[in-house]
Amino acid sequence: MAVAKDNKSMKKERAAESAVSLVKDGMVVGLGTGSTAELAIAKLGERVKREELDILGVPTSLRTEMIAIESGIPLTTLSEHPSLDFCIDGADQVDSKLNLIKGGWGSHTREKIVSYASKRFIVCVDDSKLVEQLNSPVPVEVLPYAVRVVEAQVRELGGAPVLRKEGNRGGYFVTEGGNLLIDADFGVINNPEELAVALSSVVGAIEHGIFTNASEVHVGGEGGVEVLRR
Ligand code: A5P
Repeated sequence: MAVAKDNKSMKKERAAESAVSLVKDGMVVGLGTGSTAELAIAKLGERVKREELDILGVPTSLRTEMIAIESGIPLTTLSEHPSLDFCIDGADQVDSKLNLIKGGWGSHTREKIVSYASKRFIVCVDDSKLVEQLNSPVPVEVLPYAVRVVEAQVRELGGAPVLRKEGNRGGYFVTEGGNLLIDADFGVINNPEELAVALSSVVGAIEHGIFTNASEVHVGGEGGVEVLRR
């Protein structure tokens, strides 16, 4: 018996389909990580098969790489294609100025690199991700050697750092780059651009999850998709 999709999944799927509809023949597309990005990858794979779309994907995680391969999307690397047409990805929060928090799945370092290498960064989310102001903890990937030093700098910036754990055995979350991850709670973030610059100057931090470069956000809602642009 087919299991009915829940409302949230349907909203994600609508947003993903809308973002993927922008992809054209010959494009190189960055492929994000997360449940919404995975829906977009599946939709893109369908277009590759149905329309014989000639595209290349650049994955932002090993999981995304495997899903893209299963979906029939030919892949390339940033070294071969350092300039991409689009990056399609999800987000954990989107504020009214289209600033984002990403990194719920711990892949924000690669996601940021790929999104900055792209001419357009297309974000797809369900409407539960929209907030007036960003307020969820900011993921910060950290060199393990520097973890306590980074925590001290995050506190100086007004954040409360928590080292991310994985599973129920008390182990720490390790990124694909072999690093640790701090979730830094700043409460309501009044100036995301300023905090993004400050976090980028934290010594020992590799990359943080505030993104200020979204070109457009496709928001899946009850009745359809709304596209928000800067
Ligand atoms: C991955 O590290 C994240 O940046 C994801 O893009 C973000 O967590 C959104 O994931 P979902 O689409 O699963 O909510």
